[in-house]
Order: sequence, then C-alpha cells, then structure tokens
Amino acid sequence: MAALACVVLAAGQGIRMKSRLPKPLHELCGRPMIDHVLDTLAELKPDRTVVVLGREADEVRQRLDEGIEVVEQPEQLGTGHAARCAAEALAGFEGDLLLTCADIPLLTVETLRGLIDHHRAEGAAATILTTEPEDATGYGRIVRGDAGAVTAIVEHRDADEQTRGIREINTSVYCFDARALLPALKRIEPANVQGEYYLTDAIAALVGQGKPVCALVAPDADEVMGINTRVQLAEAERIARDRVRQRLMLEGVTLLDPPSTLIDAGVTIGCDTVVHPGAQLTGETSVGEDCVIGAGATLRGATLGDGVLVRDSCVISESSVGSGSVVGPFTYVREGSEIGDGCKLGSSAEVNRSRVGSGTKMQHFSYLGDAEVGASCNIGAGAVTCNYDGLVKHKTIIEDGAFIGSNVTLIAPVRIGAGAYVAAGSVIAKDVPAGALGVSRDRQKNLEGWVERWRQRRSRGGGRPRPPHR
Ligand code: UD1
Ligand code: CA
Repeated sequence: MAALACVVLAAGQGIRMKSRLPKPLHELCGRPMIDHVLDTLAELKPDRTVVVLGREADEVRQRLDEGIEVVEQPEQLGTGHAARCAAEALAGFEGDLLLTCADIPLLTVETLRGLIDHHRAEGAAATILTTEPEDATGYGRIVRGDAGAVTAIVEHRDADEQTRGIREINTSVYCFDARALLPALKRIEPANVQGEYYLTDAIAALVGQGKPVCALVAPDADEVMGINTRVQLAEAERIARDRVRQRLMLEGVTLLDPPSTLIDAGVTIGCDTVVHPGAQLTGETSVGEDCVIGAGATLRGATLGDGVLVRDSCVISESSVGSGSVVGPFTYVREGSEIGDGCKLGSSAEVNRSRVGSGTKMQHFSYLGDAEVGASCNIGAGAVTCNYDGLVKHKTIIEDGAFIGSNVTLIAPVRIGAGAYVAAGSVIAKDVPAGALGVSRDRQKNLEGWVERWRQRRSRGGGRPRPPHR
C-alpha cells in the first residue's frame, strides 16, 4: 500500500474569530480543535504528519505530540502558500498526501478512509472531499465541466451569481498524489479579490496539466463544517456534544435529559450510571458503573468509583471519590482531595486538599482543609479545621475511628489519635491522644427560676436580672 502523509493547515490568523487565542486552540467539548483533528488523523497511522503554523503560534506548537512535524509559514499569504510550505517539507515523499485544516474538527476517520480509498481506486492526482450544505455561503464552489468532471474551485468571494448558485462546496479536505501537488502549487497566482495564494487554484492547475481530478461527496455536511466564527463554533459544539452523549448512551449510560447534560469528549462513564438534568462532566472525569450523578452536579476532572451517589448541586473538582460513597447535596470537594470507599459526605460539606479514609462519615455542613482523616471516623455537624493561620496552611490529622463532636474547631497543626473523642463545641489546639476524650469548653450552669424572676421584674418596669458574679 502507498505511503501516507497528513498535512494540517493551521497558520491562518483566524481573524473572523475576533480572539487573542489562536483559532486551533479554541475548544470543542473541552478539547482544542486541533487536538480533535490530530486525534482523528492519528487513527490513520500516517507515515508522516506535518502541521503548518504561523510564526507566532508557539502556543499551538507547545502542545503538539512528539513525532508531529511543524512547518512555519512565515507570512499568511493564503492556503495555497501554506500548502506549499508543507509540500516543500515533504519534498521527495512518494505516496498519498491527505490535506485538511485545523478548523474542521468534526471530521470522522471513516470519512477520511473513504476519501483515501476513493482516491486510490480512481488513480487520481487529486481527490476533493465535497458536500452539499443547506447554506453554501462563504465556501468555495465546485465547478464541473459538461461531462461532470471537476474543472475548478471558485471561492465564494470571487464567484459570480451563477457560480454562487452551485450547491456542491469544497470542504478543504483533499487527497493528493504527493508528487503532483508541489508543481501545481508553483503555478498558482494571487489573482483574486483577497490577493492570496489559494490552494483551491491548484485544482484548475492540475486539470490544466491534464491530470485526473476527482471529487467525493460527503453525505453529512455537518461533519465537514469549517469553523470561521464563534457562531459556527457554537454550532459545531452542539453537534460534537450530541455525539458524545449518543456514544455514552449506546455504551449503557442513562442520561435523563441529554440536551441539558454537558459532557466533555475526554469523559468516561461506566454502564448503568444515571445522570440527572443539568449535570456537567468536564475534563478527564471518569465515573464508574452504577453511579447516580444528581441534577446540576459538576464533576471537573473527577474520578468516581462504582456505585457512587453524588446528590444534586455538588461540585467535585480534580479529586477522587471511592466506590459506594455518598456526597451531597450542595457539597464541594476541592482540588487534590481523595475520598475513600463507603464514605458519607452529607450536605453543604467542603473538603479541600484532604484525604478521607474509607467508611468515614461527615454528614452536615463541615469543613476539612489540609486534613488527613483515617477510616471509620465520625465528623459531627459543623465541625471545622482551621488550617490557615493567615500566613501558611497547617495539617490536621484525625486517626482511624476518631469521633469529632458537632461544632468542634480543630486548630491546625493538630492530631486526634485513633479512637479518640472530641466533645461537641470544643476548640482544640492541642493533640488528643488515642482513646482519650478531648474537651475544651465552659462548664454549663443552670440558673433555677431565672425566667420567672425576669418576667416579674420586667412587669414592674425593671431591667433584666443580672447574671450572678462568678
Ligand atoms: C477554505 C477554502 C474554501 C473551502 C473552505 C472550507 C481556500 C482558498 N478556500 O476557505 O474553498 O470551502 O476552506 O472550510 O482554500 N491557513 C494557513 N495559512 C494561510 C491561510 C490559511 O495555514 O495563509 C489555514 C487556516 O489556519 C485554516 C485553513 O488554512 O485552518 C483554511 O483557511 P480559512 O481562511 O479558514 O479558509 P476559508 O475561508 O474557510
Ligand atoms: Ca475555514
């Protein structure tokens, strides 16, 4: 089989995006457009992959995998010039050259395989992937001669009324005979309204040289849409998200309201997990089997085991939650936290940079920051760690089986030994040894008959009875 080189044009200035961010780095489903393109091309296992970048595209360059060749297009003189930069870098390469653009992120590998197969079967010098979108505005039109053979591509800007009436458009995805491309590109001139070298003119140049040029119509116009504006980006985002949701549903995930559920391309979810409306699962989040993700929950780079229940409106960010644990509602698990198996983090809890051992319960509005909590502990309602002294953060260590009463204040650095108890309402600034009771609060006094005395005094016009002196 012939060798295959892939070329991605990504040097354009993306002016229509009106952005400081280079167009290839605008995201779709939480991943830069160019990554979508390169991931798809990688599936073809090409012999070489060349990306054409502009001089100021260091941001893009930095994130490219090793093995991907970068060619610089020093000045953005048009797609024909960009393709020429790539063709020169590939001088001497013999085989098929698949050329696409960084702004066509929805393209599937099946379509690319179809293009390459068609090109090989026809023995063409160039095969253009075309389509017939609802609205062809802005795209280059495919001009065919009397016998139906492709003769040229005419850009929308340069087209007359009749040519604009043509429905078949250039997707900007081509397969070339690598040896034929460079000579054709050398023949093109910037004789158009934009004064640019158009890659599309290479088609007429090849036809002029008597070389066979073919076209393959992609049936799904959505898949080959080019992103030039943020309106098109939003449209592509909608399509890409739909694809992700459909894939997950076919893999056995229940989405109760798919359109309201936002799931990034890098998310994995196990079967029989149920996701409620309005949930957002982003980044490299991974959810096990049989989980329930509540309404409005946000999982950002989270790792969940099996059978985890995340109740409504929780946020779990860059943290893990072990199998069988229950979180929320309204609980915030912040960056760098690890929650063990079978834990219960109830309502309105916050856990930050902390580890919580398996089977530990913290049911009601508590805060753990920089804490290491052992297994099977109980953290009472409203207990908090005071991890920050205004300058630095300190650690709180709670060993296995400890019981922290409600409304306890743990002033870090502090350690609560295994199985120790801390009495409710205590302010704890010293370590509590294993098995001890730590208590630090005022003794209670009851003033017998105080209420009645106060009422009588008030009815006589007097003030409140004063508390007794100590
Ligand atoms: C291009 C095609 C058009 C086609 C459409 C499909 C040309 C002249 N036109 O138009 O026929 O219908 O795509 O989406 O080819 N680029 C460079 N260097 C440059 C200019 C552009 O690398 O100097 C890159 C861009 O980064 C982009 C790609 O080439 O990835 C296409 O450029 P763009 O300006 O988006 O072309 P369109 O106007 O969309
Ligand atoms: Ca484009």
